[in-house]
Amino acid sequence: MLTAEERQEIEAEMALYPTKEAVRIGAMKIVQRHRGWVCDESIRDISEMLNASPADLDSLATFYNLIFRKPVGRHVIMLCDSVSCWIMGYERVREHLAGHLGIGFGETTPDNRFTLLPIVCLGACEQAPAMMLDNHLHGNLDPKKIDGLLQECK
Ligand code: FES
Repeated sequence: MLTAEERQEIEAEMALYPTKEAVRIGAMKIVQRHRGWVCDESIRDISEMLNASPADLDSLATFYNLIFRKPVGRHVIMLCDSVSCWIMGYERVREHLAGHLGIGFGETTPDNRFTLLPIVCLGACEQAPAMMLDNHLHGNLDPKKIDGLLQECK
């Protein structure tokens, strides 16, 4: 069930747009900001608020890969797997991350600290290989830089 605070924020978002349809992603982002991910129950409640079907919201969330439909760790790593990053050392970075964390794509570490996900081009090709760590972009990655970044994450 959505909290009163979540509902208020979604209603405030609705006031900014001419249609409820335009608020769909924003509403899911609000819930995700509060809970870390968007569960089925939240999808159902948002769909009622926005007069949308849960299936439409679910497919939108699936398409928009910044909405998490499963629980994630405290820190989310999204590693770019598009062409410039491939050329500039993606494989080495992926192997280092997977080895360091002991998980593969789509998985979360047992201590719930990190989730590792693939993502398409982050628009930072000049800094390839690149990844997002939570909401921050990091480029020119190498194992040493990655270790330093992960160490800062509690
Ligand atoms: S290909 Fe990785 S940031 Fe563009």
